[in-house]
Amino acid sequence: MTAETTAPGTTAEQHVGSDLLARRYATLGRHSPLFYNTPLELVSGNGVWLTDAQGRTYLDGYNNVPHVGHANPVVADAVSAQLRTINLHTRYLNSRVVEYAEALLATFDGDLERVFFVNSGSEANELALRLARQHTGHTGVLVTDFNYHGNTITLAEMTTGLTTREPLGAHVRALHIPDVIGASDEQELLERSLAEVDAAIASLQETGHGVSAFLFDPLFSTEGLLHTPAGYVEGVATRVKAAGGLVIADEVQSGFGRIGTSMWGHQMFELTPDLVTMGKPMANGHPVGAVVTTEELLDEFGRHNMYFNTFAGSPVSSAAGLAVLQVMHEENLMARAAELGEHIGARLHDIAEADPHVRAARGRGLFFGLEFIAPDGGRRTAADLTKALVEDLRERGVLISRIGPHDNVLKMRPPLVFTREHADLLLEQLDAALHTLPR
Ligand SMILES: Cc1ncc(COP(=O)(O)O)c(C=O)c1O
Repeated sequence: MTAETTAPGTTAEQHVGSDLLARRYATLGRHSPLFYNTPLELVSGNGVWLTDAQGRTYLDGYNNVPHVGHANPVVADAVSAQLRTINLHTRYLNSRVVEYAEALLATFDGDLERVFFVNSGSEANELALRLARQHTGHTGVLVTDFNYHGNTITLAEMTTGLTTREPLGAHVRALHIPDVIGASDEQELLERSLAEVDAAIASLQETGHGVSAFLFDPLFSTEGLLHTPAGYVEGVATRVKAAGGLVIADEVQSGFGRIGTSMWGHQMFELTPDLVTMGKPMANGHPVGAVVTTEELLDEFGRHNMYFNTFAGSPVSSAAGLAVLQVMHEENLMARAAELGEHIGARLHDIAEADPHVRAARGRGLFFGLEFIAPDGGRRTAADLTKALVEDLRERGVLISRIGPHDNVLKMRPPLVFTREHADLLLEQLDAALHTLPR
């Protein structure tokens, strides 16, 4: 859990005088995470803007769920119209559901031409792993050593990026993902990292688990937005497939045009996954997830399992999903993410060059980061710096967060309706906050 999430018993406790916070503790309990030292009560949103209970507005530089903007009227109207017409599970024919499946699948290449609808990213990954297990007859899974893919028991046994009581499963191997930033020899790094993959696969085979899947986020976002050596991800995929396993691209963070240059994060690489999972931005906040796969895998699973999911892919979910795709298309949001990504990336690189606290600029499209290092001889860690910056930016009216194993990478991932004006405002406030750091 990132540290800007206020744990009960720490600073938020001081504000328990707030009636709403006390009522929340009394109902949701004290472990449900909250951002910021003083929790922020947000009461409304519009596009990239959020308003708190005191009437103050904030630029949203963090939230990827409201993909086409907070309170988007096209989505709200589509959901409302569908709710007023019909909303049922998928055991009856309904054209809206099929229309959405067709529109979503049209964004994929190759034989990724079938979809299972689910309700969340966790559920999508759980189902994808189940398909992989059944298809391969193996249980072994490769993940990264700082991952988060969801909250089911299966996923908790492979989670390395936040606290879970479940130990890493005996059938799980956590790969250290190489990062070219700061590497002196990219080729040597690539070879060394792929040798680690070979060893992990061999170990799964020797222990009788075999390889069912490699589950990865193409942006390595929880991992801190790593920039892998050219050929690394393809190298892992080739090895996994050679061992009989399947490749699962978790596009919960990287999908839906976020990276700007393509609709799906895996399209950055020369590979076709067997399964693609998605959630968060899919329906602008309405709980929708999906697993996209091949006819072969869907058919095999369907022949052996009666799979039914009450709420998934309902007409209302489909209407929301269709509205998101419609707005993305009409407002050309993917191209805009590419253009803004270039603009923001260039500015962040300049900051990284000039500011001794900053090690590197990271990310692509509208998912960008700044990695911090601790000042020489200072008492504050890099995580202290990012924590201070996240809090300071909140005071300046900009919401962002931080990620990575050391909590030292500022995480900026706004709704896709961000414009140049919004980007410049965020950069201006970031600059001002950076200037408050001790020199
Ligand atoms: C990469 C990734 N996969 C899966 C999930 C789980 O999605 P959900 O919270 O919708 O279950 C998350 C959530 O943060 C995620 O970041």
